[in-house]
Amino acid sequence: MTTQENSPDQQQTPSGIRRKDLLKAALVAPLPLIIAGAVPALARDRASSGKPLVPTPAACEPGEAPTHSQMEGPYFKPNSPERTSLIEPGTQGTRLTVSGYVFGLSCQPIANALLDFWQADVYGAYDNAGYRFRGHQFTDSQGAFRLATIVPGLYPGRTRHIHVKVQAPNKPILTTQLYFPGEPRNNTDSLFDPALLMNIRTVGSEQEGTFDFVLNVDGGGGPTDPPGGTWQPGVSYSVGSTVTYGSGTYRCLQAHTSVVGWEPPNAPALWQPV
Ligand SMILES: [Fe+2]
Repeated sequence: MTTQENSPDQQQTPSGIRRKDLLKAALVAPLPLIIAGAVPALARDRASSGKPLVPTPAACEPGEAPTHSQMEGPYFKPNSPERTSLIEPGTQGTRLTVSGYVFGLSCQPIANALLDFWQADVYGAYDNAGYRFRGHQFTDSQGAFRLATIVPGLYPGRTRHIHVKVQAPNKPILTTQLYFPGEPRNNTDSLFDPALLMNIRTVGSEQEGTFDFVLNVDGGGGPTDPPGGTWQPGVSYSVGSTVTYGSGTYRCLQAHTSVVGWEPPNAPALWQPV
């Protein structure tokens, strides 16, 4: 009988935090705070009650299937405006933010991934003449996105949903839909897929949704710079040591053993450009 082997992303730190959570948390908080347990591994997934929500899906486990695709439906229109907010003057409806990350199969965040959202208005109608509730954006250098919109209305035959196309640079397009938990029609809509449920929490009069996409892309799209340089995985770096990666030079901010996926451009909590 052999000891169960964990992949690098499933290995736990001495504090019991899985590497994948540490990686995601490193994108939003200084690493020393994470290791000390001073902040939740994923602050955005902590409910207002203080109880952590279960991430949906449990994104970025190596070897896990990528995010499910769904039909495009009849209402997609190309050439949507680039914008992170679909709210316009006079927009009606409950405000909703949808945020998350785009990962590749290796759990590497994908920078500059394209997300093109479209949805119904509060009355369940799509704007097929113009571009209301349509917009595209790109993930930032850490693979993160954030959309400001409203909770879409219902229309006959479907449960509540938001359409989206996600594409890593120069890679195939994932077309899918995001769903809302607790919707009665989730039980009767044949297209509904529980793997595509967002985490939703209510904050005051607004709602906040989170969802992480996993694209069927090896290497996660990679950092902006091509690999190469003095940085190597499996090396114990101390504070202040410097490496080169791609065309950049970086100074170590936190002692750690380097691993694939934490290349300096992807790990601002660990490496500072100099
Ligand atoms: Fe739809």
